[in-house]
Amino acid sequence: MTFDIVTIFPGMVQQAMGAGVLGRAIDRGAIDVRVRDLRDFTTDRHRVVDDVPYGGGPGMVLKPDPIFRALDGIEAERGRPMTVLLTSPQGTMFTQDVARRLARLEHLVILCGRYEGVDQRVRERVTEEVSIGDYVLTGGELPALVIVDALARLLPGVVGDEQSVTDDSFSRGLLDFPQYTRPAEIAFRSGEQERPDLKVPDVLLSGNHAEIRRWRKREALARTLARRPDLLASAALDDEERRILGELQDGRIAGLQEGKVKSGKP
Ligand code: ADE
Repeated sequence: MTFDIVTIFPGMVQQAMGAGVLGRAIDRGAIDVRVRDLRDFTTDRHRVVDDVPYGGGPGMVLKPDPIFRALDGIEAERGRPMTVLLTSPQGTMFTQDVARRLARLEHLVILCGRYEGVDQRVRERVTEEVSIGDYVLTGGELPALVIVDALARLLPGVVGDEQSVTDDSFSRGLLDFPQYTRPAEIAFRSGEQERPDLKVPDVLLSGNHAEIRRWRKREALARTLARRPDLLASAALDDEERRILGELQDGRIAGLQEGKVKSGKP
């Protein structure tokens, strides 16, 4: 998949893309990311990309003409119509479903907005306006990175272990079960008496794969029920999970290994 990212801060996007899983995916050619500096599409000596709003008011608005020229340039290179995403707090919410849908595209333009606004006429060229959450950022660069990251990991050859993508909680509409690695036991502070909550649950050390699978299902369901019950309505549950959920809901079994972990709710 090819991404064209149009931004006034190309360095910010390039730097972040250079590291980690995304950086390796780019090096291997699993994704192609082209970062376009909006200032390269200005025609004045000072390479101005924004201007004061008509009608007055604070802040600056991204000018339409450099954006139109940038989009025309990318379209001319590709030679066919393109999907153009505008990042903005006014957009529809970016979710895992939206990521899955967009990851089927072969090419995507992401236009990084500014929090003060983008000239309304730009929306004529925009296929979809997307928000990454109900909060306001200073610009669309971080949202663009979030979107590329979420899409990239759904593409073949980006994440080493494809199973980890198909197994991830959101692919089935549940939160993840708790994960542990070695050591099986840790001393919280030296000399402190035994802390059972710092021990890896016995079932994970048992080697009993059927038990481990059931325990993970129960923990994922209990965690979702406690933290994000809204997800359960559309989660893809198998018969066993439906039964476990029923038992958790009427208190017949306990879940939540991590009862001590704060959910962020009061
Ligand atoms: N630009 C500023 N805030 C944003 C948000 N929450 N999502 C997408 N783009 C933005």
